[in-house]
Amino acid sequence: MISGSAAIQPLHIPLGDRSYPILIGSGLLAQASSYAGLPRASQALIVSNETVAPLYAETLRQQLGVLYARVHVVALPDGEAYKDWQTLNRIFDALLEKACDRKTVLYALGGGVVGDMTGFAAASYMRGIPFVQIPTTLLAQVDSSVGGKTAINHPLGKNMIGAFYQPQRVICDLDTLRTLPERELSAGLAEVIKYGPIADMALLDWLERHMDALRARDVSALAHAVRRSCEIKADVVGQDERESGLRAILNFGHTFGHAIEAGLGYGAWLHGEGVGCGMVMAATLSHRLGLVDAAFVQRLRVLIERAGLPVVGPVLNADDNAGRYLELMRLDKKSEAGEIKFVVIEAPGRAGVRGAPDALVREVIDACCLRQ
Ligand code: NAD
Ligand code: GLY
Repeated sequence: MISGSAAIQPLHIPLGDRSYPILIGSGLLAQASSYAGLPRASQALIVSNETVAPLYAETLRQQLGVLYARVHVVALPDGEAYKDWQTLNRIFDALLEKACDRKTVLYALGGGVVGDMTGFAAASYMRGIPFVQIPTTLLAQVDSSVGGKTAINHPLGKNMIGAFYQPQRVICDLDTLRTLPERELSAGLAEVIKYGPIADMALLDWLERHMDALRARDVSALAHAVRRSCEIKADVVGQDERESGLRAILNFGHTFGHAIEAGLGYGAWLHGEGVGCGMVMAATLSHRLGLVDAAFVQRLRVLIERAGLPVVGPVLNADDNAGRYLELMRLDKKSEAGEIKFVVIEAPGRAGVRGAPDALVREVIDACCLRQ
């Protein structure tokens, strides 16, 4: 249960004329002030999914009814497995069937899957229409709704087709986290933990003290976690919006994690679960490269486990497990000319991007995965 209450000042993501606020607090979905100043149009389309729409779409539709003459809702099938062309096309079908013009505003109501797909639809419908992110998972509130990465998956690789496209606003209503399944809350905690080793060891200390409160959904603890995560992400994205360098550090744990997700089939492990386990693997690689000590890796492993996340990698191929990981990781967007680039911890609180010899990566995978 969520306990306590919180009202928080908006954060701003500094991107010149594409800057936008991130609102964080309780009850924001049902507050008219959350929508003040958003683009006006004759129509708006709420994009959600079959799980989230029955919970929150009517509250949003009522608020948007004041701003737009017609408000439509499209509820996509739920799951990472539907983050594909066919499902994306359902958004375009809805827009065209309702004769939506280029002023139409899209509202992404859901987790990262809905947010990434709605953002990509907004980036490409009539070459770009405005959209607003209303993230309803912890993962989406602390990461995916902020920063303008939008995408769908390809069977051969995760988030391979997409665009950088910033929303008009991000509205994080902490109350929506009340209905989030336990496993999804843990998945979101992986992305919160990530910000510690890459940027802010004080956040890691704080997480060690407040992990139980977060898992009990204490709203003050959640508010702090969401705000601090968004502050760090806003700072990084403000410096490197299109990932020409620095932004890659936000992918700590993701190179291994994406291989796990793709290797097991999208949806078998949650994205945050892949990232949690992937962080243990990336920290182990950092240790084997001589960058951090074994105690640092152990500290991170314990925290990730306390968040309810897996810390041992799955076997993706019984004959050559490490080879299968390597094959999948070569498809990572950070790879250059077939060389895999890993986000490593250079020192606690500071990350960098490096290549590593295949033999060393194999050792790490062997050490971090279930015995075959
Ligand atoms: P998700 O969108 O699949 O949501 C998780 C589950 O929770 C779904 O079943 C959903 O229907 C349900 N749900 C959502 N809100 C709920 C609520 N309030 N109450 C009850 N159920 C609710 O998964 P996610 O973890 O939010 O996002 C993962 C996706 O985000 C991945 O596709 C990942 O690639 C992407 N991602 C993108 C970025 C980015 O920068 N764009 C960053 C991180 C992750
Ligand atoms: N989640 C990684 C990024 O936004 O860059």
